[in-house]
Amino acid sequence: MLNDKVVVVTGGAGALGRGFVAAIARQGGTAIAADVNIEAARQVADEWQAQPGGGSVVAAELDITSKDSVCALIGSLQARFGRIDAVVNNAYPRNKNYGRRLEEVTYEDFCANVDSHLGGYFLVAQQFCMAFKAQGHGNLINMSSIYGSMAPRFEVYEGTPMTMPVEYAAIKSAVVHLTRYFAQYFKGNGIRVNCLSPGGILANQPADFLAAYNAHCASKGMLAAEDVVGTLLFLLSDESRYMTGQNLFVDDGFSI
Ligand SMILES: NC(=O)c1ccc[n+]([C@@H]2O[C@H](COP(=O)([O-])OP(=O)(O)OC[C@H]3O[C@@H](n4cnc5c(N)ncnc54)[C@H](O)[C@@H]3O)[C@@H](O)[C@H]2O)c1
Repeated sequence: MLNDKVVVVTGGAGALGRGFVAAIARQGGTAIAADVNIEAARQVADEWQAQPGGGSVVAAELDITSKDSVCALIGSLQARFGRIDAVVNNAYPRNKNYGRRLEEVTYEDFCANVDSHLGGYFLVAQQFCMAFKAQGHGNLINMSSIYGSMAPRFEVYEGTPMTMPVEYAAIKSAVVHLTRYFAQYFKGNGIRVNCLSPGGILANQPADFLAAYNAHCASKGMLAAEDVVGTLLFLLSDESRYMTGQNLFVDDGFSI
């Protein structure tokens, strides 16, 4: 599906990013695992087992909150591959106080998390789309979440230390709308921009929480990282060539 495409995955060493990188390489692409944690990104590249017909995985250091870092990555990939076909805005920066209940979120923490996450997504989108425009083509996929579009189901968190952070709602709803903004702005330049909104992803959550969550789902319940991969590959591939400005939900029906 992605033969010879050069695809950058920011946060490529994370829970979803690792699976995305491997899937892109399995489909014949060159996957760039770009992460602020370069050691973890190198491990992702080392773990990739070359396969017949498969592509490759390259580790790269990237801080999405630094314009110098974003521009340096774009420049080095252009020098090495001659082009960049796509970028997946997938990193997940958060500060040490992220994830508190609404009453405990300070103004400073709210702003810091919006700055790094939403600001970083803007910076990556801006700089890559400018490079895409110059080369005449490009594909941007923004990772949002169902919680960028639906009101939280707070009741599923009852009895757990978890919540659905208020910063996350602000950031992810803005990511959905930035997707439309960028899609509209770059229309006619060979650039498409779409959004992928997964539901919760399995990560050893408590059984009571999973039972409450799964009661809202259609079949499997909470999905694993690999369950989201197919939709990402579709958005990256030419099979979705006439889609732009859209937001796809993958959540086993949790949000409906
Ligand atoms: N896991 C979920 O339940 C879930 C559900 C819906 C949407 N999402 C979204 O999917 C995306 C990936 O989430 P995840 O669960 O894989 O996160 P994760 O925390 O497992 O991985 C995030 C990665 O981003 C990297 N990172 C952090 N700050 C960075 C920066 N400044 N520059 C570059 N890299 C940086 C980290 O080193 C890490 O490797 C996020 O946008 C997240 O909001 C996740």
